[in-house]
Amino acid sequence: MKLLTIYGSPTPPGKLARALTLVENEVRALYPVWTVDRLSPEPTGNPVVGYWGADAVERVREADAVVLASPVFRGSFTGTLKLLVDALPNEALRSKPAGILTVAAAPQHFLSAERHLRDVLSWFGALTAPNSAFFVDSTFAEDNVSDEARSDLREFVEQVTALAERLPRHHFGPDPLHVRFTRSRAHNASTPATRKTT
Ligand SMILES: Cc1cc2nc3c(=O)[nH]c(=O)nc-3n(C[C@H](O)[C@H](O)[C@H](O)COP(=O)(O)O)c2cc1C
Repeated sequence: MKLLTIYGSPTPPGKLARALTLVENEVRALYPVWTVDRLSPEPTGNPVVGYWGADAVERVREADAVVLASPVFRGSFTGTLKLLVDALPNEALRSKPAGILTVAAAPQHFLSAERHLRDVLSWFGALTAPNSAFFVDSTFAEDNVSDEARSDLREFVEQVTALAERLPRHHFGPDPLHVRFTRSRAHNASTPATRKTT
């Protein structure tokens, strides 16, 4: 089984990177049958833009489960992560277990990026884990991370691996709205217009 962690920050390394490393280490320690791979954007020198490599889409497509990790930027997830999401084909995340990990400076912003990511994951028909992991960034200011945060990350990881192991490549219906919309448009285009005869 392959877990792909997707690091959505344009400015590595940072507190999110530290949190994501703990996630990856938990998977390696607790789930030896899993391989873990991190997908990161390449920094561009622009503090809010990172570019995704040519293999990024294929790596998402191949994964059995993904963790989408983002810092909160302006009350949402990063534009850098959105660049990747917009490049994904419709089926890349369909029925795929997906966990959401976010960090922010302000605790009041705990749902900011999560709710937007949930919307986007719903568009794809992803199998989004019910409980996301959110942390105030100071939690990961140093290597010495609290036991409480580590325990939360362990439970977070357990959700994602359990979904993938218990529902391997299960295909959930109904089709997401964009699939149904595309199908009905194609159907209408191929059906000859009915003419009223008098
Ligand atoms: C452009 C930008 C926008 C940000 N917007 C918010 C925000 O709306 N709310 C918030 O709580 N923190 C915000 N932050 C703070 C980051 O979420 C926080 O510092 C986070 O730890 C950055 O991730 P990193 O440490 O991995 O680089 C923003 C930071 C940047 C650079």
